[in-house]
Amino acid sequence: MPDDKKLFKVTIDNITIEVEPGTSILNAARKIGGDVAPPAMCYYSKLKGSGGKCRTCLVEVSQGSTADPRPMPKLVASCRTNVMDGMVVKNITSEKVIDARNGVVEFLLINHPLDCPICDQAGECDLQDLSYEHGTEGTRFEFVRRTFEKHDLGPYIQLHMTRCILCYRCVFAADQLTDKRQHGILDRGDHSEIATYIKQSLDHDFIGNVIDVCPVGALTDKTFRFKNRVWFLKPQDAHRDCPRCAGKVRLWTRGEEVFRVTARRDQWGEVEDWICNECRFEKKKASDWVIEGPTLISRHSVISAGHYVGMKMPREPLPEVMGGRKPKLLMDIHSVSEVNDPNIDLSKIEGPAHSTDFVNKG
Ligand code: SF4
Ligand code: FES
Repeated sequence: MPDDKKLFKVTIDNITIEVEPGTSILNAARKIGGDVAPPAMCYYSKLKGSGGKCRTCLVEVSQGSTADPRPMPKLVASCRTNVMDGMVVKNITSEKVIDARNGVVEFLLINHPLDCPICDQAGECDLQDLSYEHGTEGTRFEFVRRTFEKHDLGPYIQLHMTRCILCYRCVFAADQLTDKRQHGILDRGDHSEIATYIKQSLDHDFIGNVIDVCPVGALTDKTFRFKNRVWFLKPQDAHRDCPRCAGKVRLWTRGEEVFRVTARRDQWGEVEDWICNECRFEKKKASDWVIEGPTLISRHSVISAGHYVGMKMPREPLPEVMGGRKPKLLMDIHSVSEVNDPNIDLSKIEGPAHSTDFVNKG
């Protein structure tokens, strides 16, 4: 009997793991976690057919497989390339990859407006994060940026076409979550745009999910527009008995006030359970919900700046990537000054912490 369970060994950034045949390099890297996982602006594990559009997930394959150890001649999109047994991949350990990623980010920003100061997505925008890591200060683009005729998508969803990076996620989400096609991408090249063609509004019960899958601020929630900055809000997990969806959501609150409702997202920023429009847009009172508690936030998120509880430390694979060596810190204040008391639990301090909380009494 053939051994169906044979796993493939793949080494990514010097860390070897075993994965099932058919796993993409991106998903294998996500199993390792941390910075080893390439950024993904168009791939979305819950949307069939997604990926292969944005090129932010490029990696270098320095050994194709044990059977054919030749390197792949060009960088490959990790979301669309499956692992082979004995494959060796470089992501953050490859200068070529970093260089290409800088180029991809420059390309994505060619037509993207500098809207972050007024964009509702600021603070939770994948493109903003990528630009901080890979962007340059200036632009070499000398032409006028794209402009579009305004499309009204109805009472709930605001489209800013100039911010769209044409990742197709919203198109896949609308196609796969609704029973009739809602919108698509019209035209070719730099004329391409998200549109309903005859300018209808998007009005299916689950269409609000396109807001959550959009990696930039091209699709935002009209009921939340300009109301607050996400880093001033406190995300809390909550649920309600909903006849249409699982009713498991994230409430973004300030004091007692619920500013917006979104789906819960996993560590890769992907929606865990799709939610219906009623939960998202109509239930804006704390009394509509059973609040479970503060959302666990990755410490890399700007949103964790606004509250002191529920910080989840992501896996830090850098020492493993560097063969056991720790990254050199300019100054590790924790070991040098020893001002921090390791027994202080920030979640137990009422309100913001003060210096007196950290006096090391030990
Ligand atoms: S609107 Fe957002 S989700 Fe849709 S294609 Fe543009 S960037 Fe992607
Ligand atoms: S995430 Fe792979 S090409 Fe966009």
